[in-house]
Amino acid sequence: MKVLILPGDGIGPEIVAQAKKVLNQLIEGGLTVEISEAPLGGAAYDAYGAPYPEFTQKLAREADAILLGAVGGPQYDKLDRPLRPERGLLAIRKDLNLFANLRPAILYPELANASTLKPEVVSGLDILIVRELTGDIYFGQPRGVRVNDNGEREGFNTMLYAESEIRRIAHVAFQAAQKRGKKLCSVDKANVLETTEFWKEIVTDVAKQYPDVELSHMYVDNAAMQLVRAPKQFDVMVTGNIFGDILSDEASMLTGSIGMLPSASLDANNKGLYEPSHGSAPDIAGKDVANPLATILSLAMLLRYSLNDEARAVRVENAVKAVLARGLRTADIYEAGTEKVSCSAMGDAVVAAL
Ligand code: NAD
Ligand code: IPM
Ligand code: MN
Repeated sequence: MKVLILPGDGIGPEIVAQAKKVLNQLIEGGLTVEISEAPLGGAAYDAYGAPYPEFTQKLAREADAILLGAVGGPQYDKLDRPLRPERGLLAIRKDLNLFANLRPAILYPELANASTLKPEVVSGLDILIVRELTGDIYFGQPRGVRVNDNGEREGFNTMLYAESEIRRIAHVAFQAAQKRGKKLCSVDKANVLETTEFWKEIVTDVAKQYPDVELSHMYVDNAAMQLVRAPKQFDVMVTGNIFGDILSDEASMLTGSIGMLPSASLDANNKGLYEPSHGSAPDIAGKDVANPLATILSLAMLLRYSLNDEARAVRVENAVKAVLARGLRTADIYEAGTEKVSCSAMGDAVVAAL
């Protein structure tokens, strides 16, 4: 199996370095994978003048699985849009047809007090957000900024979903629900937006094939509220690209920190790109203080989904649980009575626990 590593920008190289230590430990223990590395985002712009250059594209297409840190940084925000790091990320998702983004929000019991929500609200939390990743307003055409008939400038984007795009993500979500608590909540804004009313219609139709899953629907504004009011009412949530982007950041705080939320972006054959749900955190980059656990947990997802290695995935997850149980915390999840450690020390501790 070929694994491509894309450190990216900001804290990306720091957190990916920790996941690489874990991967190397697994390789020492008998895992056979071929590893390569390439730049994506700002790092790729600096090296090749493009955020998703051919060099990276070739390796990405050949890989069975990809591990990414994060992309982006203020130094790139003034570039022409096609050259910006975020475009590189969108391009690789689209190029590899990674339409199914799984973002599990799980609260480890030791972190019940790290969340800004009351422990009783979040303890035992285990929800899965299934975010459609290659459609919606992110990719819909036309888009841009133009001068309108009144001579005024206006910005515009197009929210768009083809039936086939909704069907395939709905199947992923129903099948995920079948393997868990058998409850699926589809999130839309059907009261205002035709695109998402259509989404609701198609998801309802797909539901006929999954009579064992209880389907519900919720407007996105209510879903945002319910996620902080009573998040444990949810099992699996499925939603479009932009709603999923926002709701998954919100859900991350239920787990204590955005530094805890991993993700898998899968194609129809379980080839996947694995990355923490957070960004490149320019405010803490280069300080060795970022939380690497979302990235390490993303590696666990890589083992599970693309390498079909459930045993090693569980071992990595158990190693993360063990360091949390030992009381080690990076700054974002630190609380009195625990031991504050750096990003690299956290990585070392996970390797030791492994
Ligand atoms: P961000 O997720 O990078 O940071 C938000 C806040 O969370 C910051 O205070 C940051 O310090 C903190 N944070 C994030 N990850 C952390 C970690 N592992 N440990 C501890 N704290 C962490 O979001 P932002 O500030 O809105 O965006 C920064 C840049 O990242 C932008 O260029 C944005 O486009 C990009 N971005 C990239 C991705 C990605 O590559 N998948 C995702 C989101 C944002
Ligand atoms: C994410 C990020 C990306 C997104 C950006 C950086 C393009 O926020 O992975 O959640 O919006 O999908
Ligand atoms: Mn996001």
